[in-house]
Amino acid sequence: MKITSAEFVMSNSNVAKCPNEPLPEYAFIGRSNVGKSSLINMLMERKSLAKTSGRPGKTQLINHFKINNNWFLVDLPGYGYARVSKKDKKTFQKYITEYFQKRKQLVCGFVLVDIRHEPQPVDLEFMEWLGTNQIPFAIIFTKADKLKPGAIERQANAYLQKLLEGAWEEAPPHFTTSSTNRMGREELLEFIDGINQDFFKSNT
Ligand code: GTP
Ligand code: MG
Repeated sequence: MKITSAEFVMSNSNVAKCPNEPLPEYAFIGRSNVGKSSLINMLMERKSLAKTSGRPGKTQLINHFKINNNWFLVDLPGYGYARVSKKDKKTFQKYITEYFQKRKQLVCGFVLVDIRHEPQPVDLEFMEWLGTNQIPFAIIFTKADKLKPGAIERQANAYLQKLLEGAWEEAPPHFTTSSTNRMGREELLEFIDGINQDFFKSNT
């Protein structure tokens, strides 16, 4: 898929106020600093469409970008646990869970994980939460430029193996990427293009 236009549309914390056009939408989620905003810029071939930073917590709010005038990319803040009750019950930030539960246009969530790290409980729990809520998602391994080719494959395989040992019967779609050397760009755009085509076929 060729990118012909990418424009920032709006930021907000209220899912009800997000754009209401019936276009397919993809959201980037993961821990702070994993590379969500950088990946959006890499995919769109734009330096600073989405705001990035070396310090965790750069992206706040739900940010919509309209691509090629017919689909949306959404840059989300990093997730983490928020303490909600006196009993120390842990939950994900409310507007993030609301976004995933209420956003009808969402066709796929991309859960980003740093390829160098072992599976982290917060990521596994979020994927499980997506599964329970029947929200389709794919895994994106980020920062692959930090590893040698052999190690990239080893780490990705070990990660998927862990999922299969847990609650998952089959591995979700997965991609290995680097925002610095553009690894994974074509594959990811092809994947999105395929889903877009299905979306427009069944919505016309
Ligand atoms: P929040 O908005 O804080 O949740 O972070 P984010 O997930 O959007 O991360 P962001 O894109 O801002 O990147 C965080 C840091 O990681 C920045 O210093 C980036 O330059 C760096 N980074 C992101 N992607 C890559 C990558 O593929 N390779 C390398 N080497 N560094 C990366
Ligand atoms: Mg960000």
